Amino acid sequence: MNEDPYKPPPSRQSEEPVMMTNDDATSCKRAAVDRGYWSDPYVQHFIKSCDRKPPEINRGYFARVQAIKLLVDKFLEISSSQAQIVNLGAGFDTLFWRLQDDNRPLKAYVEVDYPAVTMRKVHYIRLRRQLLEKIAQGEDDDIRLSKCDIHSSKYHLIGVDLKDMNALSNKLSQDCRLDPQLPTLFISECVLVYMATDHCEALLKYITDTFKKAVLLNYDPVNMNDKFAEIMLENLKHRDCHFLGLEASQNLETQETRLYRCGFSNVRSWLMLQVYQSLPQSELKRIESIEFMDEHELLQQLLNHYCITVADNCETSLGFGEIRLHPVSTVAV
Ligand SMILES: C[S@@+](CC[C@H](N)C(=O)[O-])C[C@H]1O[C@@H](n2cnc3c(N)ncnc32)[C@H](O)[C@@H]1O
Repeated sequence: MNEDPYKPPPSRQSEEPVMMTNDDATSCKRAAVDRGYWSDPYVQHFIKSCDRKPPEINRGYFARVQAIKLLVDKFLEISSSQAQIVNLGAGFDTLFWRLQDDNRPLKAYVEVDYPAVTMRKVHYIRLRRQLLEKIAQGEDDDIRLSKCDIHSSKYHLIGVDLKDMNALSNKLSQDCRLDPQLPTLFISECVLVYMATDHCEALLKYITDTFKKAVLLNYDPVNMNDKFAEIMLENLKHRDCHFLGLEASQNLETQETRLYRCGFSNVRSWLMLQVYQSLPQSELKRIESIEFMDEHELLQQLLNHYCITVADNCETSLGFGEIRLHPVSTVAV
């Protein structure tokens, strides 16, 4: 791959196109939910309607959302009611509400994004009873809503730039009152790749330095050095959007090395192709019958260019090293 045309501008890019990627993710999730890939009664509150997406996009999002939920459930099983979750670059993600429906015990759930994104999320939450009522833990819960932030006894939404470590750390400790001694899961679903290496590593080091039982669940692009990736990067460039963190997305090894370098002691990653094949066969059979797909090769390529990594800095005896997927041997998708 010719490096130069795809190299992002030195270390910064306009934040607007990065924030817009949240609208893309939300509309793809809504499109797949509308087609019956999985159930999510909440996504409709964040986006009115959207165009149909091709089946390979729907299947890719299905694998992403199912795998993340599966791994989050495993984390919650191990940490029980003491669990804290911080969803970095959460956008309009609905995981908090879906976990509430499952009656998952949780100590705290924090969503972080740029203030311009959280401001919109605050607006939708204010507007929808179905969203607001799940945030309150009982009638006496004091919910504080401001322009860009929400705080209740369990749920917190904070508008802060993940590059601003002082502001992030202050908000997590003072406003959200996270306890650094409790098991804390950090989710970054398609977020770190938009951050320049130094900013991203400062964030990851802050996590491992501050939280003594930290688990990271990261979904990112990978294998960014072939023709498929070149086209993907070119498309992004046309939208003035860049993968500033491309360095870590060369392959699974570079994804893992970055996390070891930032203080995680236990790291494992899977290509989304492996993840897809590890999902329950009955579910795969169900979703593969939803709509006809003739672009099998395209789906395979797509799944080969994203990965999930789970990392932790915990003592082995705590069991967080057991949070993993069990990929089956490769079969054609
Ligand atoms: C591709 S979207 C993913 C949204 C959500 N995680 C999901 O998967 O549906 C990337 C999100 O990361 C957020 N993001 C990227 N860089 C950020 C930063 N430096 N500070 C705060 N949020 C950031 C964007 O605003 C956007 O909402």
